[in-house]
Formats: sequence, C-alpha cells, structure tokens
Amino acid sequence: MVGKVNACVIISGKGSNLKQIIISSREYNFPINIKLIISNNPMAQGLKLAKKYNIPFKFFSSYNYRIFERNCLLEIKKKKIKFICLAGFMKVLSENFLKTFKHKVINIHPSLLPKFKGLNTHKKVLDNKEKYSGCTVHFVTSSLDSGQIIMQKKIIVEKNETVFSLKKKVLRQEHKIYSKAIRKIFKTT
Ligand code: GRF
Repeated sequence: MVGKVNACVIISGKGSNLKQIIISSREYNFPINIKLIISNNPMAQGLKLAKKYNIPFKFFSSYNYRIFERNCLLEIKKKKIKFICLAGFMKVLSENFLKTFKHKVINIHPSLLPKFKGLNTHKKVLDNKEKYSGCTVHFVTSSLDSGQIIMQKKIIVEKNETVFSLKKKVLRQEHKIYSKAIRKIFKTT
C-alpha cells in the first residue's frame, strides 16, 4: 500500500499482540507501518521482536513518568509517528501526552469493556461467574481502559474455565481483532 501511516507500538511485556501487528503490517494493504517500538521495561520479551524484525526500538524508564512521556514524545516526533498502538503497556497515558494524538492512540484490553477494567481481568470474570468474556480494542483516553470502543470479540466462559485457560482463549482472539480494528479505523477492509 502506498503511503502507509508511520506507527509506534508501546509495550511492557511479552509482545504477542505486537508480533501480530508486525506480521499484519508486512501485508501490502495494511494501513500502518511500525517504525518504532517503545518499552518501559528493559526486560520486555517484546523487544526481541524489534531485533528480529529489524524495527527501531527504545527503552525509556517510567520511574519518572513525566520524563518517560517526554522521551516518548521526542522520539515519536523524530520518527514522524502519526499513530500509536498500546499492546500490553501497563501504564495510563496523561492528558498532556494524548492532546497531540487525539483519536490516534489505541489499546487492547482482555475483557468486554466497560466491564472489568484494570488488572487481574480474567480472575474478576471468573469470580463474577460471567457467562461471556472477550477482548476490546478502544481509543485511549487518560482514564484507565476507557475511551470509544472500536471492536470487541466475545467468547463463552466454559464451566471448568481457569484463569490460565481463559487468558489463552482471549489472547487468541486479541491477536485477531487488533489488526482488524486497525484496518477498520483506516477503512481498508
Ligand atoms: C494482553 O492480554 C493485553 O490485552 C493486555 O496485556 C496483555 C499483553 O499481552 N493489555 P502481550 O504482551 O501482547 O503478549
């Protein structure tokens, strides 16, 4: 595709969603090109993917969050990034960061938002005896796991479901809908 949008993915951990986005981005008609990967965790496994796929990456400590965001913004500007995907990034971006990127930052969360925001999602789903769970891709605001929903995928919670099995099942769907949601935003499906 001519004129793909320069994008950055921000991670904190394993990066399995990052991997799927990278794979999709290599398709001719995928709307974004991953030009930068940022992690606030130097040990994030996802950084290995940056090396494997030869994508520029940066580690910035988020110990001082204001400095973290400033470092991100500087690098993002340098690389002419116009779109940001959060993929397992364990922090909330500030209003100040987001004002430059209105409707240009998206996130994936392993629940059917607005239900079960925050951490330990699958445990909360099981404790609450939910019949269904799933995952959500949404625009990012400065409130945790809020913002307009772009796409959701629902799955059935089986009777013998465990946190481990639910996580695995939901993650499999996350890998499918993240790229679909990106295509939807840029209307290339
Ligand atoms: C995913 O479940 C995502 O929804 C949540 O954190 C997990 C990250 O997984 N925000 P990975 O790093 O993409 O493998």
